[in-house]
Amino acid sequence: MTEPIRYHLIKKEKHTGARLGELITPHGTFPTPMFMPVGTQASVKSIAPEELDEMGAGVILANTYHLWLRPGQEIVKEAGGLHKFMNWDKGILTDSGGFQVFSLAKIRDITEEGVHFRSHLSGEKLFLSPEKAIEIENDLGPDIMMSFDECPPYYESYDYVKKSIERTSRWAERGLKAHRNPDTQGLFGIVQGAGFKDLRKQSAAELTAMDFPGYSIGGLSVGESKAEMNEMLEFTTPLLPETKPRYLMGVGSPDALIDGVIRGIDMFDCVLPTRIARNGTCMTSHGRLVVKNAAYAHDFGPIDDNCDCYTCRNFSRAYVRHLIKADETFGLRLTSYHNLYFLLHTMKQVRQAIMDDNLLDFRAEFFENYG
Ligand code: GUN
Ligand code: ZN
Repeated sequence: MTEPIRYHLIKKEKHTGARLGELITPHGTFPTPMFMPVGTQASVKSIAPEELDEMGAGVILANTYHLWLRPGQEIVKEAGGLHKFMNWDKGILTDSGGFQVFSLAKIRDITEEGVHFRSHLSGEKLFLSPEKAIEIENDLGPDIMMSFDECPPYYESYDYVKKSIERTSRWAERGLKAHRNPDTQGLFGIVQGAGFKDLRKQSAAELTAMDFPGYSIGGLSVGESKAEMNEMLEFTTPLLPETKPRYLMGVGSPDALIDGVIRGIDMFDCVLPTRIARNGTCMTSHGRLVVKNAAYAHDFGPIDDNCDCYTCRNFSRAYVRHLIKADETFGLRLTSYHNLYFLLHTMKQVRQAIMDDNLLDFRAEFFENYG
């Protein structure tokens, strides 16, 4: 069997758990640690594939749940897969639908077989199982796919979370069996366990025994404090094999990225940069800037004086503010471009800091400026 994806560890940082590496996929190699822009419906909102490429995004994320409901995986398959359908020839990772069903869909019944729920679009009754999720992901054709999991709330009871992770392990096993393209698509297992260390340990042990080509850490950034998340990461990543990539799901604030990298995380995704961009908030080297605020009406400087993205090289805060206030779609394109560039650029600096063994200094300086 050929390996669909291969993680290459280049270097470990001297003073932290950070790792510099690369992930080799059927659609190119990207450096890690990496932030993956989210293109839920096969589009990173308002940003063209060429633009993602020029800002250095070697991999993006799409959602099984959304693409299954609309346009349906048959149409994507008919197009020749997601890469062809959206004209993106670099890496694609799909989430399995588990998390989206729990966060978006109404009326649900979780059984051993799978999850019954109603579509958030049509209200139609639907059923998603590990086998069905894998079938859809096989049809969509991403380079990396996620196992079907349950993401229990962080403060759920011990008894419930224990039953849940054991079921998620059985679902992961069923997904592995159902996977039709193990030579071209890498399937990740997802470690759960809420805030219980022994359950995180059990989940990691059960999943690593199945020998997935990569591991995700789920069930974090769901309402717990940053300190709690960092503690759980510090505990969990050492339980995962050093030879495989580790992906922290749904985390995208710059400070959490740096703290995740320090604890051995290689990949991140989050809607945060594009979501806040659409309501006029920018991530900058001096912290968050709400560019639509009146304070910037006469400010003809760039969004971030330390940024050399397309937006910052060409347009002023006053202009971007005007566009957002006037509901001009170009405004949210400019803020979305900047925010994604900012996170990708920050990760580039993080990789350099790992190379130079000065990630803690980089962190201190970043946090001082970011606030
Ligand atoms: N996205 C953010 N958190 C999670 C999680 O726990 N599971 C899945 N499948 N996706 C996520
Ligand atoms: Zn910029």
